[in-house]
Amino acid sequence: MTKKKVIKKKATKKKVAKKASHKISKGMVFEYAPAPESTKVEILPKYGNFIGGKFVAPKSGKYMESRNPATGELITKIALSNASDIDSAVKAARKAYTETWSKLSGMDRGKYLFRIARIIQERSRELAILETMDGGKPIKESRDVDLPLVAQHFFYNAGWADKLDYVMPGKKVKSIGVCGQIIPWNFPLMMAAWKIAPALACGNTIVLKPAEQTSLTALRLAEICKEAGLPDGVVNIVTGAGETGAALVEHKGVNKIAFTGSTDIGKHIARTAGKTDKKLTMELGGKSANIIFADAAIDQAVDGVVNGIYFNQGHVCCAGSRLLVEESVKDIVLKKLQKRMKQIRVGNPLDKNTDLGAINSKEQFDKIKSLVKQGKTEGGEFWQAPCSLPTKGYFFAPCYFVDQSGSASISREEVFGPVLSITTFRTPEEAVIKANDTAYGLAAGVWSEKGSKIHKVAAGLRAGVIWANTYNKFDATSPFGGFKESGYGREGGRHGLLPYLEVR
Ligand code: NAI
Ligand code: MG
Repeated sequence: MTKKKVIKKKATKKKVAKKASHKISKGMVFEYAPAPESTKVEILPKYGNFIGGKFVAPKSGKYMESRNPATGELITKIALSNASDIDSAVKAARKAYTETWSKLSGMDRGKYLFRIARIIQERSRELAILETMDGGKPIKESRDVDLPLVAQHFFYNAGWADKLDYVMPGKKVKSIGVCGQIIPWNFPLMMAAWKIAPALACGNTIVLKPAEQTSLTALRLAEICKEAGLPDGVVNIVTGAGETGAALVEHKGVNKIAFTGSTDIGKHIARTAGKTDKKLTMELGGKSANIIFADAAIDQAVDGVVNGIYFNQGHVCCAGSRLLVEESVKDIVLKKLQKRMKQIRVGNPLDKNTDLGAINSKEQFDKIKSLVKQGKTEGGEFWQAPCSLPTKGYFFAPCYFVDQSGSASISREEVFGPVLSITTFRTPEEAVIKANDTAYGLAAGVWSEKGSKIHKVAAGLRAGVIWANTYNKFDATSPFGGFKESGYGREGGRHGLLPYLEVR
C-alpha cells in the first residue's frame, strides 16, 4: 500500500465514526417525523338509531354530541334515545326472532356471520380510523389489535353456528330470544363484537346500546349488517346514555342482559334484573396485578408491565394496574421502567407512531386527575414520565406510585388511566396474598423463568385470566371474564356461547 492510500483510509474511518456517534448517542430516543393517518372517513352530520333494518330518528328528536377527545372537535351527533325507542327496538328484535332468525339453520346463520366478518376486514381501515377519532386510542392499536380481534370474533363464532350440539355434548341447547347488550367506551367495536357474534351464532336477536362517548363504530357495524343482508331486526342499535341503558334492562320483552362497564352500574343492573327471569352476564372492573419474580427476564417483564398498564391509556378492564416486584430486583425494575416510560410517545392518536393517545372523555380525565391528586396525599413516591403533551384535548403522561400503603386509593380503586401502583414482596406466598387482596378478580400476570413457580402461583390467584410472561393478549377462542366484583359469565371461546343458550 502506498503512503497516500493509507492516509486516505484513516480519514474515511474517522468520518464514519463521527457520523455514527451523532446518530446513536447514549440514552437517546429516536424521533420520528409525524405520520398522521391521511385517509378521510365519511361521517354524516347526525345519526339515528338502527331499528328493524332502518336508520330512524329518536322519538324525542333529541341528539347528543360526539366529540373527538384528542382535539375537542365535534365529530357528529347521535340519537339520545328514550324508553319508547328501546320499546320499538325490542319489538323489532322479537319479530325478527320469531319470524326469521330462530327458524334459520345454524349453517345459514353462520353464512351471515362469515359475511359480516369479511366486510369488517374489507372496511377495517375505515373502522379503525373512526374508532380512534371517536375514542382517542392510538391508531396502531385500533388498526392492529381491535380490528383484527373484531373480525376474529365474528369468524370464530360463525364456525360455531352449525355446531351448537357440541357446546355441551349430550345436552340439547336452544336460543334464548331477545338479548339486551350494554357496552362501555374503552373497546367500543370490540365489545360490540364480543357481544353480538356469539348471540347471533346461538340464534338470538339483539338490541345493543353502545356507550354514549363512543357509538360511531357500532353504528357503522349496523351498516355492515345491512350490507351483509342480515334480516331486518336481527341486530338493532340504540344510542343514548345511562337512562337508555336502564330502559333496556327494565324492558319486559328482553330475555337476557349482557353488560360490560363499571362495577357500580353492574351491581345496579343486577339488582334490577334480579327481580325478573332475565339471564345476566357481567364483565366489570378490575385491579389486576402483574407479579415480577427476581428470576424473570427483567427487560421483557418491564415491557409487559408497560403494555399491561399504559396500553389504551389504561382504559382496560384487565389492565395490570398493580405491579408486585420481588424486593431484591425492585431497584433494577424501577430503573428500567423509568427508561422505558420515557420512550412512550404520547400525542395525536391518529399518528401511526403514537403509543399513548387521548383520555376518552373529560369526565374520565377529571377522574384520573383527581385520583392522582388524592394519591399524592396518601404517602409513597410518585413519578411521571417527562413528556410534552398536546395543548388541546385530554392527555395524561404515564406515571406510577411506589410503596403506598395497601389502603391507598390508587392501590385499591380502578383508576382506568395510565397510573400504576407498585409494591414489593419477598416470597411467592406473599405475592399471592397481595395480588388477591382486592375486591376484584379479573386478570393477573406472572413473570418468572421457572415454569413450576408460574403454575404454583397461578393456582393461588383468584383471577379469571392469568398471563404468564406476557400481558393483555386476547383471542376469540379463549374465555374471558372475572371472579368476585369483576363479574360473572365468560365471553369468548366455547364458554362464551353458554350465556346465550338455554341448556336442556
Ligand atoms: P358506566 O358503567 O356508567 O357505563 C357503561 C355503560 O353502561 C354505558 O353504555 C352506559 O351508558 C351504561 N349505563 C350507565 N348507567 C346505566 C344504567 N343505570 N343502566 C343501564 N346502563 C347504564 O361507566 P362510565 O360511567 O362510562 O365509567 C365510569 C368508570 O367505570 C370508569 O372510570 C372506569 O373506572 C369504569 N369502567 C369500567 C369498564 C370496564 O370494562 N370494566 C368500562 C368503562 C368504565
Ligand atoms: Mg356512568
